[in-house]
Amino acid sequence: MNVPKKVTLVEVGPRDGLQNEPEAISTATKVTFIKKLAEAGLPIIECTSFVHPKWVPQLADAADVLAELDLQGEARFPVLVPNMKGMQRAIDSGVKEIAVFTAASETFNKKNINMSIDESLQAVAEIMQSAQQHDIKVRAYVSTCFGCPYEGTIPAEKVLAVVQKLLALRAYEVSLGDTIGVANPQQVEHVLSLLLASTPAEQLAVHFHDTRGTALANILTSLQLGITTIDSSAGGLGGCPYAPGAAGNVATEDVVFMLEGMGIETGVNLEKLVDATQLIAQSIDRPLPGKYFQAAMAQRNK
Ligand code: HMG
Ligand code: MG
Repeated sequence: MNVPKKVTLVEVGPRDGLQNEPEAISTATKVTFIKKLAEAGLPIIECTSFVHPKWVPQLADAADVLAELDLQGEARFPVLVPNMKGMQRAIDSGVKEIAVFTAASETFNKKNINMSIDESLQAVAEIMQSAQQHDIKVRAYVSTCFGCPYEGTIPAEKVLAVVQKLLALRAYEVSLGDTIGVANPQQVEHVLSLLLASTPAEQLAVHFHDTRGTALANILTSLQLGITTIDSSAGGLGGCPYAPGAAGNVATEDVVFMLEGMGIETGVNLEKLVDATQLIAQSIDRPLPGKYFQAAMAQRNK
C-alpha cells in the first residue's frame, strides 16, 4: 500500500477533548495528563486554549496549566488562540507555539467566534504579526471543511480559498477540520486532491471527529494521498461546544494501533498512552469511546 513511512501525530485531547467535557477537571490532573501524553512519545500536545473563559470555562485555567509545563523541553505544547486578547495571554504565558482557527462556513464561524471568515482572517493577520515579533510558530485550523451543522455541504473551492489565505499569512501548516464528523473517504479524496494541486502535503494536516465512525477510513485515504500529520485525541475525548452533536476527535490509540500495525512509525508507546488516558478517564463521567482504549482496559481489568 502506498502510504508514508512516518507520521506526526498532533494530540488535541487536552484542548479539543477537555473543552467539551462537562466535568470540572483540576489543573493538577490536566497537567499530569499532559505530561503522561508527552512520556508516551506524543511529540506535539495542544494543551489548552486562550479563548473567552465565559464560553469555554473548562479551559479557564490555561495560564496555570502552562506554568506547570516545560516549554523548553522536547515535547511541543501549542495553545489555541482566537484573537489578539488571547494572543496577549499566550505571550504572557511564554508559549512558543500557537494555533489559530477559522472556518470554511460563515455561519459556523460566526457562532464559534462571533466573526465572519474575513474578520477572522484579519484577526489571524494581526496575530501573525505579533507571532513573528515574539518568534512564535503558528499553525492554523479550518473548521467545517467537509460539512457544516448549519450550512450543510461546503464546496471544496471554499476550503481551498481559506487554506490559501492562511498559508499566505504564513501559517506553517493548515489542519483541515471535519468538525462534525460527516466526511467520507470519497469526499476526503475530492477535497484533498484539490488542495494538493497547489499545496505540498507537508503543509496540510487532517483533523477528523469520529461522530459517525468514518474517521479511520478518512485517515487511511489521507495517508494514501501523502498526508503525514494527523490530529487525534486520547481515548476519543471531547467534541466541539459550537457544533451540536459533534463527537470527539478520532481516538489517538486507534490511530496509533492502525498505523503501527501497517508499519508506519508514530513514535508513540501504546501502553504508556493508555496509562495517560486511564488517568483522565477517571475524571470523565462516561466511558471514553476509543476502541483500543476500551479493549486495553478490559484486558487490564481481567
Ligand atoms: P466576543 O464576545 O466577540 O469578543 O468573543 P470581543 O472581542 O467582543 O470582547 C468581549 C469581551 O471579551 C471583552 O471584555 C474582551 O476583553 C473579552 P470586556 O471589555 O467586555 O470586559 N475577550 C477575551 N477574554 C479572554 N480571552 C480572550 C478574549 N477575547 C475577548 N481570548 C471570542 C469572541 C473569540 C473571544 C469568543 O467567541 C470565544 O472565546 N469563542 C470560543 C470559541 C471556542 O473556543 N470554540 C472551540 C474551539 S474551535 C474548535 O474546537 C474547532 C477545531 O478543533 C477544529 C475543528 O474541529 O473543526 C479547532
Ligand atoms: Mg476539533
